[in-house]
Amino acid sequence: MIIAPNIILVGPMGAGKTTIGRLLSQSLGNEFHDSDRVIEENAGADIPWIFEKEGEDGFRHRETQALYELTHNMDKPIVLATGGGAVMREENRTILRNGGLVVYLYATVNQQLVRTSKSNHRPLLQTGNPKATLSKLFAVRDPLYKEVAHIIVETDTRHPKSVAKKVWDAI
Ligand code: S3P
Repeated sequence: MIIAPNIILVGPMGAGKTTIGRLLSQSLGNEFHDSDRVIEENAGADIPWIFEKEGEDGFRHRETQALYELTHNMDKPIVLATGGGAVMREENRTILRNGGLVVYLYATVNQQLVRTSKSNHRPLLQTGNPKATLSKLFAVRDPLYKEVAHIIVETDTRHPKSVAKKVWDAI
């Protein structure tokens, strides 16, 4: 029997990591986890609160712990959606790369902007010009997503079901 590894989704805010993750989890029959939700459960507080009280550094520290926990302490393979900044720490990149099949869900800055404009729970987009922020983050992070990814799937022009099928085909 072939056992699928953990499927780890990385990519910018608005790439569709949660939507695609849920679809994949349904078709694979593996549990879905979202590292942002685990961070919130462990902290007993939401992400905006963590950023406000502990700063981005505090959040990143919690993120490393959650990623480690999710890739080491589960009995069965999972589908894992990560936060857009999960690749920022070298330590995290090692955890991700060794933790399963890493899929980079690629989206252009314009698409990221469209998809993130409907929510206000992302502290990094609450101040300044969101497009400029997304562009700046993308310039730094795109090479890091590519560094950790085993496969890259473009999400701009595809329906979520078609993105999930692409990932499924690659497993
Ligand atoms: C962040 C992305 C968010 C969340 C936090 C920081 C980032 O996750 O982890 O607000 O640094 O890009 P999503 O990519 O799921 O929005």
